[in-house]
Amino acid sequence: MTIRVLVSGSGKMGHEVLAAICREEGFATAGVVDLYADADSIPLPDGSAAVPFSADVAAVIKETRPDVAVDFTNAEWTPRLAEATLAGGVRLVIGTSGLSDDFVRQLANECDRRQLGAVIAPNFALGAILMQHMAKTAARFYGSAEIIELHHDRKVDAPSGTAIATAKGMAEARGKPFSRAETQRENLSGTRGSEVSGVTIHSVRLPGLVAHQEVIFGSPGEVLTIRHDTLGRESFMPGVLLAVRHVMGHPGLVVGLERLIGLK
Ligand SMILES: NC(=O)c1ccc[n+]([C@@H]2O[C@H](COP(=O)([O-])OP(=O)(O)OC[C@H]3O[C@@H](n4cnc5c(N)ncnc54)[C@H](O)[C@@H]3O)[C@@H](O)[C@H]2O)c1
Repeated sequence: MTIRVLVSGSGKMGHEVLAAICREEGFATAGVVDLYADADSIPLPDGSAAVPFSADVAAVIKETRPDVAVDFTNAEWTPRLAEATLAGGVRLVIGTSGLSDDFVRQLANECDRRQLGAVIAPNFALGAILMQHMAKTAARFYGSAEIIELHHDRKVDAPSGTAIATAKGMAEARGKPFSRAETQRENLSGTRGSEVSGVTIHSVRLPGLVAHQEVIFGSPGEVLTIRHDTLGRESFMPGVLLAVRHVMGHPGLVVGLERLIGLK
């Protein structure tokens, strides 16, 4: 059986998803939707065909009958996409950042009501999921930890959602906040970074970087560093394809890839 995918978003991630679908046996692109679609069709990266391209999600669904929509766009667009896709019986895989808690709750209810599968993953890179899992494991054995997250200079927010989620997960695994070394005099304001659950978080923004994170645990006489580096967008694709396969057979909303790879 071929899984027909509707790609939502024709930006950097949207193009990466199109390329991954072209490479993957058993997958086909049904069409592409984007609020800013500027043509009626879009060529596939392998040159094999062109597929419908439109801002009208309901019309593309009616025309192309996709099984799953994969969304990497903007938090303003995703709820509109979700409404149209679920109404059309299409499952969802969402990677867009900045979704509201309200939207996530509503999506969970709708997926249950319609018995359709959906995955929202703040991070599709399997190595990043493993890094967070290992940080949670180590958290039980240390009292002090800091996170350095490093991203490209066009990232709009700081710190990253992954850094905040990692710090919260570590404190949860430990059962209490970490203890943070107080600096008596900060000669430059902000130098010691920000703090979540006693974990200090530092954000680096530089051209040349993609997405990187280091979790550093310290105790007398030793330091443990867990580091993950995302070097290219193709690192997200195994996670995206895994989520697409998952939603085909599992109704209901799953948030995060952990459960899909047996870590929860
Ligand atoms: N979950 C993950 O693992 C992961 C990985 C990388 C990126 N992301 C997220 O995916 C999203 C897209 O990333 P990208 O690098 O492809 O960005 P991009 O800027 O290259 O593409 C953005 C896409 O969203 C559309 N868009 C932008 N603003 C919009 C709006 N207000 N309304 C409707 N559509 C809008 C654009 O037309 C474009 O198709 C971002 O939210 C990013 O944070 C998530």
